Amino acid sequence: MELQGRRSFLHNRAKSGDVVHAGLVVSLLIGVWYAQALEVNTGKVHFIEVMNGSSVLLPCTYASCIGIKNLYFKWEFKDNGTFIKLCEAVIPSEGIEPNVKIYHERVEFVGSSKTNNISILLHNVTFEDQGDYICFARNPKEKERNHSATFTLYVVDELKVVDNTLTLIIVSVLGGVIGLIILIMVVKAVVLAVLNKAQEKNKECLVSSSGNDNTENGLPGTKAEGKPTPKA
Ligand SMILES: *[C@@H]1O[C@H](CO)[C@@H](O)[C@H](O)[C@H]1NC(C)=O
Ligand SMILES: *[C@@H]1O[C@H](CO)[C@@H](O)[C@H](O)[C@H]1NC(C)=O
Ligand SMILES: *[C@@H]1O[C@H](CO)[C@@H](O)[C@H](O)[C@H]1NC(C)=O
Ligand SMILES: *[C@@H]1O[C@H](CO)[C@@H](O)[C@H](O)[C@H]1NC(C)=O
Ligand SMILES: *[C@@H]1O[C@H](CO)[C@@H](O)[C@H](O)[C@H]1NC(C)=O
Repeated sequence: MELQGRRSFLHNRAKSGDVVHAGLVVSLLIGVWYAQALEVNTGKVHFIEVMNGSSVLLPCTYASCIGIKNLYFKWEFKDNGTFIKLCEAVIPSEGIEPNVKIYHERVEFVGSSKTNNISILLHNVTFEDQGDYICFARNPKEKERNHSATFTLYVVDELKVVDNTLTLIIVSVLGGVIGLIILIMVVKAVVLAVLNKAQEKNKECLVSSSGNDNTENGLPGTKAEGKPTPKA
């Protein structure tokens, strides 16, 4: 009886070993599936155009359905094929603000772990800043898989000049149209006045020549008041 009990005990242990083994396999499988879990995103717009001398937000957020632990991230600038590290940090766990190391004098970290935001600001943009900015993240929970998203910056000279030209064009077109309308109205008024005078003269002529026209009374001017002359 005792021996049997021990055997079944051993048997049970072997069984639980199997369970542990199966568990390992399952967690490995889940681990593979987890490899898709982290996402980094630079938003809907993947490029921006800024004027030299201004500051620009380089947006990036991350999302992970399994949560993060010691999430490593960095921002890089791709300059002629070589990557220049702008900043890097480790987020110990969700909601804990990272201690960001910044390697570029005009870069400021403006993100927050509370909003999964790892955006940076680039101040006093120069033409040399034009290019690709890579937001990179790696969550050790996900077998050290790399994730990244690219944001392209275009630097332009005097963005306002373009705006001004456009406003100028709109204003001149509008001004031209309004001017034309005024001109047409003035011309029309003058033409109408001339025509009126001519008509009056004509009427006078008709009245003087024969009282046979359509007016109720042959007086000039009453027609103009009673029946306004049709506008051309
Ligand atoms: C932008 O660059 C142009 C040409 O180099 C320069 O004249 C202008 O002052 C710059 N603007 C700013 C705000 O730095
Ligand atoms: C980048 O590449 C261009 C030609 O493609 C070259 O003229 C320039 O010197 C390079 N700049 C740097 C910083 O390597
Ligand atoms: C940007 O430029 C302004 C004036 O040129 C300067 O006062 C400021 O310190 C600069 N900011 C950075 C982050 O370099
Ligand atoms: C990230 O943070 C910056 C600075 O607070 C903010 O301007 C930006 O809108 C945030 N981005 C997102 C996607 O929340
Ligand atoms: C992930 O990025 C690092 C550099 O940060 C690189 O050394 C490593 O090979 C990359 N791993 C994969 C799987 O791409």
